[in-house]
Amino acid sequence: MRMSRRIENLSPYLFAEISRKIAEKRARGEEVISFAFGDPDMPTPPHIIGRLCQAAQDPANHRYPESEGLPELHQAIAEWYKKRFDISLDADKEVLPLIGSKEGVAHIAWCFIDSGDIALVPDPAYPTYAPNILLAGGKPYYMPLTEENNFLPDLDNIPAHVLEKTKLLWINYPHNPTGAVADIDFFNFVVKFAEQHDIIVCHDGPYSEITFDGYQPVSFMQAEGAKGVGVEFHSLSKSYNMTGWRIGMAVGNATAINALKVLKSNLDSGIPQAIQYAAIEALTGPQDCIQAHNTTYQKRRDLVVDMLNSIGLEAKPPKAGLYIWAKVPKGYTSVEFANALLEEVGVVVTPGVGYGKNGEGYVRLSLTIPDAGLVKGLSRLAGWRGIKKIVW
Ligand SMILES: Cc1ncc(COP(=O)(O)O)c(C=O)c1O
Repeated sequence: MRMSRRIENLSPYLFAEISRKIAEKRARGEEVISFAFGDPDMPTPPHIIGRLCQAAQDPANHRYPESEGLPELHQAIAEWYKKRFDISLDADKEVLPLIGSKEGVAHIAWCFIDSGDIALVPDPAYPTYAPNILLAGGKPYYMPLTEENNFLPDLDNIPAHVLEKTKLLWINYPHNPTGAVADIDFFNFVVKFAEQHDIIVCHDGPYSEITFDGYQPVSFMQAEGAKGVGVEFHSLSKSYNMTGWRIGMAVGNATAINALKVLKSNLDSGIPQAIQYAAIEALTGPQDCIQAHNTTYQKRRDLVVDMLNSIGLEAKPPKAGLYIWAKVPKGYTSVEFANALLEEVGVVVTPGVGYGKNGEGYVRLSLTIPDAGLVKGLSRLAGWRGIKKIVW
């Protein structure tokens, strides 16, 4: 059997590889503590599950949904953006529900990228952007995100010959994996840059609700002129512990939203309707669950950051998101360090280089691990090869 070149050239997805290694160890009866995935351990709040169960009982929801989603869900998303960011969206033309935001993040490439087109992709980044640019026949141009630049891309430094072929720009704040944040001045600058070079901006913002110390992220859509140049992807996964239900959204530029809608109508048959009703409940119902989750994550963040620093693994407390971005000890690559932790103390962290070459020198730890496992994992880490003796 001969696969397409498209598939042959595709690397295995970072997290699929990590899952495979974890499963192998567990199958051998070894206990593994995983800081790998940004998959909330706390359950979906009960009022949302209540609405899901109720909707599941209704035979009207047993049939094919419309690919573009229920009008009531479009409306709920528009209302949420108004309440949360004071942004007015046309619920019909500027909103599109997705089967988890990853689905739209992947498919938007097909709407804008032709063979040979360039997309600007942050490095390090969530590992879904670049492979889908490649699948669509385009070329990623990697923008290094470094600590010195506060993990913001230096758009002024992109060569003119690259910009000539650039169709799309990916940005993501609060950022996975570094935990960096962006302010409205940066987003305003991105809009100007996109206008100047005729580029569509795709902002990926699923972590905007996971915030600490009173910090409030802005939406890209709040930037002056954002709707003219871009779309924002968002998700119910992280805000409402709904990763398993697969529901998210794209909002913004009506032409881009329509392109995604047309593409999706040829690809999928929509989001199960009971899940759409659960999402409406999440977006329009009580919001206090978000603060409750954040209180838990903040305690975990402080515990993890303090402990890592105390053993010489430098890490800063992020203002938002689910991740700690920690420096690996001298003498190790991120893969060597992650492998050593897995083999020797059964702790899984993700190697920074898995998010791009500028992720080298770091590992990512997720805060979505129940407190008991978190404490156990941290104490295993502290015991690893007498790590306390590491000198910087
Ligand atoms: C930056 C970023 N974007 C998008 C997603 C996809 O989330 P979902 O498909 O669950 O909405 C994730 C998931 O980890 C992410 O980290």
